[in-house]
Amino acid sequence: MARVIKPSEKSRSSRIKITVGRNGLRLALIALSVAAVPAGAFGQGDVGRGKYLFDAAGCAGCHTDKKGKGAFLAGGRPLKTPFGVFYSPNITPDPGLGIGKWSDADFLRALRHGIAPDGRHYFPVFPYPSYTGMTDSDLLDIKAYIFTTAPKATANRPHDVPPPFGWRFLLPVWKALNFAAGPFQPTAKQSVVWNRGAYLVRAVVHCGECHSPRDLMGAIQTDMALAGTAQGPTGGIVPNITPDRKTGIGRWSKGELEDFLDSGMLPDGDFAGSEMGEVIDQSTSRLSTADRKAIVEYLRTIHPVVNRIAAKKKK
Ligand code: HEC
Ligand code: HEC
Repeated sequence: MARVIKPSEKSRSSRIKITVGRNGLRLALIALSVAAVPAGAFGQGDVGRGKYLFDAAGCAGCHTDKKGKGAFLAGGRPLKTPFGVFYSPNITPDPGLGIGKWSDADFLRALRHGIAPDGRHYFPVFPYPSYTGMTDSDLLDIKAYIFTTAPKATANRPHDVPPPFGWRFLLPVWKALNFAAGPFQPTAKQSVVWNRGAYLVRAVVHCGECHSPRDLMGAIQTDMALAGTAQGPTGGIVPNITPDRKTGIGRWSKGELEDFLDSGMLPDGDFAGSEMGEVIDQSTSRLSTADRKAIVEYLRTIHPVVNRIAAKKKK
């Protein structure tokens, strides 16, 4: 029997238009397109998309102790910070020593809220303050990919971080002051490309985790986002990448910036070293051209901050 369609049910989109208005509809469309590749079936992580996002997010670099010849994602990479040395944990799907028993909800809670399945809070050296901006479906795609990798029974190494910074029980206080849970909210005023770029820079590739100065508690100074710092996550110099013409990258052309994210070559022919070399190698060079263009589109519109960092580099 044919079902009578009431006018209010006729079209979902026309109803959205009525309730949220034009801007709202645009926003909803942008929100859908921020995750540029359509997700697979409900609740099922898409391994291919997951691998792409996993690379973009740089998970392997921190969770693999390459220098110590550790297995892929088995942890143990020392992360030297001004607060002490952290050792990344095993995130292989090993059921005992990795995350093999984690549910989707456990994984989302860890990356969105920085909370372990047993309720412990994570140190922000794990960049969940950025990953929190990722959508549920993107995070679950990453989990799906991780669960296709080889399980390794490697035990976690305790961090070597002196008090008070090593006191995990203080983390809820830190988080209450410095952490805002995502996901990323797109801006209707801006284009789909800009929003995709913002999503990549702020959440997935987490440029600000390295390129922003931090306060004494190790929290990012939001008014100085991406303005560079002489005290990067590992203590080194990280340049200002806001569009300020003198102290940032305001003089770089779009093409120069795109090439840099693809190949690591600076406009003067030199190549990026240190951590940025790793970011380019493992993350930005593996992005689609469209995604690199989106990053550049976004970066060129952020507030230019005068902060002379790059000059110090060339002392
Ligand atoms: C800058 C280094 C770094 C990056 C990049 C990084 N992590 Fe981590 N991650 C850590 C550290 C360090 C910890 C441990 C934090 C703690 O002990 O509080 C951690 C913890 C975790 C945990 C909790 C493991 C457990 O046993 O409780 C998971 C899951 C995880 N990371 C997944 C990821 C994923 C997925 C990505 C990429 C999207 C990623 N990490 C990127 C450093 C990193
Ligand atoms: C793990 C830390 C880290 C992350 C994440 C990171 N960077 Fe960098 N970046 C650096 C460091 C360190 C340098 C300086 C490299 C050098 O001295 O050769 C740098 C250099 C650069 C430069 C060259 C600037 C100049 O004036 O020489 C640009 C542009 C840049 N990064 C953009 C980005 C963008 C865009 C992202 C995110 C998509 C990003 N970076 C993510 C650490 C990082």
